[in-house]
Amino acid sequence: MLRVLFVGDVYGKPGRRVLASHLPTIRNRFHFVIVNGENAAGGFGLNRESFAEITRAGADCVTLGNHAWHHKEVFGFLDDPRLVRPLNMPIGTPGSGYQSFDVKGDGLPERLTVVNALGRVFMDATHNPFLAMDELLARPDLGAVFVDFHAEATSEKAAMGQYLAGRVAAVVGTHTHVATADTRILSGGTAFQTDVGFTGPYDSVIGADPSGPITRFTTEMHSRFTVKEGAAELNAVAVHIEHGRAVFAERYYFLESL
Ligand SMILES: [Fe+2]
Ligand SMILES: [Fe+2]
Repeated sequence: MLRVLFVGDVYGKPGRRVLASHLPTIRNRFHFVIVNGENAAGGFGLNRESFAEITRAGADCVTLGNHAWHHKEVFGFLDDPRLVRPLNMPIGTPGSGYQSFDVKGDGLPERLTVVNALGRVFMDATHNPFLAMDELLARPDLGAVFVDFHAEATSEKAAMGQYLAGRVAAVVGTHTHVATADTRILSGGTAFQTDVGFTGPYDSVIGADPSGPITRFTTEMHSRFTVKEGAAELNAVAVHIEHGRAVFAERYYFLESL
């Protein structure tokens, strides 16, 4: 059996701090840890230093999202075999939309493939993620497949879960930064949760200091977003996988003292 922990979008320094202080205390409960790092550097994108911090904290694999390219420096380490950029991007995009690992679980090493795909509803247009998944799943030797579906709409995420039910071990949503209370195992043994929630500032507007978004909503003019200081929360989902299928899924939550 493989015990996998998936940690939602790490947001800025508070997110990196709670990950670095808390993940090591629970790391030995899991064989493999995936962390979404699309907001790790200042709330947008990933840079070399934040990637190193996340892997030092105990992540075996880091996924991205719509902010993948915010820091140009990411192109310098996109070939790292622990890093997964969105799958459904134009042919020729550097990096990889999936990575396979041989993970030492309870028994013999098991193959685990981590995928990151982008949704299209209320998001910038990209290639069809459903068809991109079909294409990927036609490949041999993927083993158990764990999908981070980075999307805005609950409907699109629910549809992806149902579309991949029985074909992959897990489909978990990221991007909204708000955890949903719908953790379940779909028919055929696919763990599903609409959104894992994020790892970042607790008293914020999905990570940002409220002043920036509130100014934008009230004046309809551009305003700068800054990372909210203060206590951070960590949202994750634990999935146990046997023979490529999920047998257990549970939300995990931790909050620093306020
Ligand atoms: Fe995010
Ligand atoms: Fe996002």
